[in-house]
Amino acid sequence: SARRREAQSRHTQVLEAADVKYRRDLRTARGAIDYLKGRGLSGQIAARYGLGWAGSDRHGLASIFPDYDKPDFAALLVESGLVIQSEDGRRYDRFRERVMFPIRNARGHLVGFGGRVLGKGEPKYLNSPETPVFSKGSELYGLWEARQAIRNAGQVVVVEGYMDVVALAQMGVENAVATLGTATTTQHVQKLLRAADQIVFSFDGDAAGRRAAWRALQSCLPLLRDDIAIHFLFLPAEHDPDSYVREHGADAFREAMREAPSLSRFMLDEWARQHDLAQPEGRARCVHDAQPLMQAMPKIALRLQVQRELAGMVRLTPEELDTLLALEDEPSG
Ligand code: GTP
Ligand code: MN
Ligand code: MN
Ligand code: MN
Ligand code: MN
Repeated sequence: SARRREAQSRHTQVLEAADVKYRRDLRTARGAIDYLKGRGLSGQIAARYGLGWAGSDRHGLASIFPDYDKPDFAALLVESGLVIQSEDGRRYDRFRERVMFPIRNARGHLVGFGGRVLGKGEPKYLNSPETPVFSKGSELYGLWEARQAIRNAGQVVVVEGYMDVVALAQMGVENAVATLGTATTTQHVQKLLRAADQIVFSFDGDAAGRRAAWRALQSCLPLLRDDIAIHFLFLPAEHDPDSYVREHGADAFREAMREAPSLSRFMLDEWARQHDLAQPEGRARCVHDAQPLMQAMPKIALRLQVQRELAGMVRLTPEELDTLLALEDEPSG
């Protein structure tokens, strides 16, 4: 709408101006440069992703916004998430002493930032808040920067972290994007499928990563088609894509991608893992737990394939399973 476009352009202007400052300030921020070099990043990759530095000044942005303290403009800065207004009315820059990762939407408009502390501080990452132009549940970090590589590969790799995206690009895997510290949503998957018809999710090799993958799978189900391919790459425990690609190299990562289980494989294996299929109760519970996921899938050939395998696992005939899952009776959608 016109209102949204206007909000977008007002926000874009202040965000872009801040971005220019953050990038300029990185050039002379020795500690931040050493930090990024220590993480294996070249100046070229830092520039491609527009990395910046927010210094320690609580009112650093006042140096680029002469109207920092004028009520109308101050309100815009607060609404854009660049400035925080505390309860007593005092305002200060949200991002201080952080490496800045600008976040662009699919059209290339700057919509927010993520900022990482150099050392051990909390929170490790600070993100822009939800604003009229920024919604973590639908934006993907790196989608804009990776667009050409995604198109060329016909494939998009989805990871958990900013640093995973940038480190993969540094090693030559340029088609990666990240969710922004939130679960993968159906809106994310919609965006991903607009960009490519192959998706590889590669989450951290820890328990949280496995849970994140299971959530992502569920967000994929309503959008499944027989002409798309979704895979789940599980890295060794304690690795994330950044540490893995730096330790083992891009070829090892690509090889692991080629061997990554498909969505249906992951789903069936996970059902088998979560239930005691040696017991009738476990097999019954498995059918119970599988039902909502099966119901969420559109009526495509893949659903029938999964149903057939599931029937074997829970020792039912496909007809019995069909009746139990009520896949034919309930309206879909
Ligand atoms: P590095 O330590 O820099 O390699 O970060 P990481 O990306 O490996 O961190 P981790 O696997 O812990 O988290 C993955 C993603 O979750 C991050 O990239 C952030 O988007 C998000 N995240 C992590 N820690 C925080 C936090 O403290 N606050 C918020 N809001 N998000 C976080
Ligand atoms: Mn993790
Ligand atoms: Mn990680
Ligand atoms: Mn990491
Ligand atoms: Mn290793």
